[in-house]
Amino acid sequence: AVELPKPFTVKEPEVEIDDGKKKVTIFFGTQTGTAEGFAKALAEEAKARYDKATFKVVDLDDYAADDEEYEEKLKKETTAFFFLATYGDGEPTDNAARFYKWFTEGNERGEWIQNLQYGVFGLGNRQYEHFNKVARVVDDMLAQQGGKRIIPVGLGDDDKCIEDDFTAWRELLWPELDLLLRGEDDITVSTPYTAAILEYRVVFRDPADASIQEKSWANANGHAVHDAQHPCRANVAVRRELHAPASDRSCIHLEFDISGTGLKYETGDHVGVLCENLLETVEEAERLLGLSPGTYFSIHADKEDGTPISGGSLPPSFPACTLRTALTRYADLLNFPKKSALLALAAHASEPSEADRLRFLASPAGKDEYAQWVVASQRSLLEVMAEFPSAKPPLGVFFASVAPRLQPRYYSISSSPRVARSRIHVTCALVYDRTPTGRIHKGVCSTWMKNAVPLEESHHCSWAPIFVRQSNFRLPADTSLPIIMIGPGTGLAPFRGFLQERSSLKEAGAELGPAILLFGCRNSKIDFIYEDELKNFVETGVISELVTAFSREGPAKIYVQHKMMEKASEIWSMISQGGYIYVCGDAKGMAKDVHRTLHTIVQEQGSMDSSKAESTVKNLQMSGRYLRDVW
Ligand code: 2AM
Repeated sequence: AVELPKPFTVKEPEVEIDDGKKKVTIFFGTQTGTAEGFAKALAEEAKARYDKATFKVVDLDDYAADDEEYEEKLKKETTAFFFLATYGDGEPTDNAARFYKWFTEGNERGEWIQNLQYGVFGLGNRQYEHFNKVARVVDDMLAQQGGKRIIPVGLGDDDKCIEDDFTAWRELLWPELDLLLRGEDDITVSTPYTAAILEYRVVFRDPADASIQEKSWANANGHAVHDAQHPCRANVAVRRELHAPASDRSCIHLEFDISGTGLKYETGDHVGVLCENLLETVEEAERLLGLSPGTYFSIHADKEDGTPISGGSLPPSFPACTLRTALTRYADLLNFPKKSALLALAAHASEPSEADRLRFLASPAGKDEYAQWVVASQRSLLEVMAEFPSAKPPLGVFFASVAPRLQPRYYSISSSPRVARSRIHVTCALVYDRTPTGRIHKGVCSTWMKNAVPLEESHHCSWAPIFVRQSNFRLPADTSLPIIMIGPGTGLAPFRGFLQERSSLKEAGAELGPAILLFGCRNSKIDFIYEDELKNFVETGVISELVTAFSREGPAKIYVQHKMMEKASEIWSMISQGGYIYVCGDAKGMAKDVHRTLHTIVQEQGSMDSSKAESTVKNLQMSGRYLRDVW
């Protein structure tokens, strides 16, 4: 397995000394590190403000090993903040999932909540139906059960500038915390807070030193569990284009070979892929940093004497490697820079006018300019750096404060282990767009997949560190129950896995219930992916009906939800027989429209009023019979 370094966390002693200080716990549920960053920023500033209190930042997963421990430990909390991100279909992040399930599904647990003063800040995106659902639910439930809400729930919106939302929320918080935590000799912090610029300690080594060996990702694997921190190297066995040559877009079918890796998956799971930046992107970054690709260095989140820099609240680091490797694997170079990154660049801009402009963009006065020039223009970090050539941050600053960590990309697995035991199939649409500045934005992972060299073609095939993430997107245990699958475009992916599974179950003699698949694409001749396979599934009775919606063949758009209406009575009858409904694909448009259509079908076919239909759909959801895998 590939060993990624552990995050630099400072272990707090388990037994806490009663020093008379008020204890404040700041919990976070994070996926890409933003919620964690906010939690730590809050703690850092609060520490500077309040002498009479201690602040502890805690990963919700690390906090307690099981439900009992959550209850046990939370009882002792008196003041707590929760930074909670919401994903996909209104779901918590992986590291908050266990807490959220326990907290929302359990019985009333008034006691500890009644002693708790709390605040919740949510991280979400307004384009999604369940905007900040996790934060809102936790905030509501805490209030309902007697908790004392110190501050209204913060609804961070990633569609705009979530850093601004956090800053605004924090400004509301200080006066409240002053009342709760201020001691007589605490100083009043009058300067407005600016995100701390963190700097790692960097140790350079001579690349000619023969003792240096770059840590290879090709190591044999020794880990029992593979996750984002312990991915597993997998070769690309197969890669093929799924669109017809006439297409102006691209959709890739890719197969990772997992034989001998110990990786296991279930039909409906996701695969996380730690992809690499394109060489052209990396070379541009090297040029902008003014450093040679062979620069061999390691970064350290502690001082030479071992004490942590800035209380240990630093993001995870990576092993010693060349700059080329670090930029290829660890740096997110194509997203737009956060305001904190602009400030870090400003601090290292030798040209005063450049430093001023960077600071302005990150300031409250520059809010609109930032929204326009950076966010709406989709200016990548590299594009911004190119506009400020004098800003050359040292590597310790660049990796700690300028370029966020390159995140794994998740894909719904499009195979079933019953058919492809030693393979993980991925169905990936290429991200390739022109941005408002005229830059061609090439999606990091989809471009990597498009260019991947499969083992079929060369022994020097492409590979990537991957891991499996479990999902709850599963076929019903009773194979005879009806299923309705709705998956336009690459939303088809998990259903291909479902159908492989059903096909194998059928061969093994299982009795299969009716299954209808609604698939949509632009044109039957161009982007009807896996057409032959789907038709074969119909012929062999694995699906009872394949319903297609081709959106760009006639004068009017035809989408899967229009076809749902045509099939309303069948769909209702399948639901009435205990059937399951699955939706996969785009959350912002399609899944919302499909949800509305389902509501209409239930209302019309079931002769109900709107609120009865709503509760019927809700019940389907709650009982796990209406499942969505959306992004
Ligand atoms: P379009 O690109 O012609 O608008 C797969 O991407 C298919 O989903 C395409 O045919 C696409 O159509 C269609 N699609 C786009 N928006 C949709 C929506 N809101 N609901 C359902 N299908 C949609």
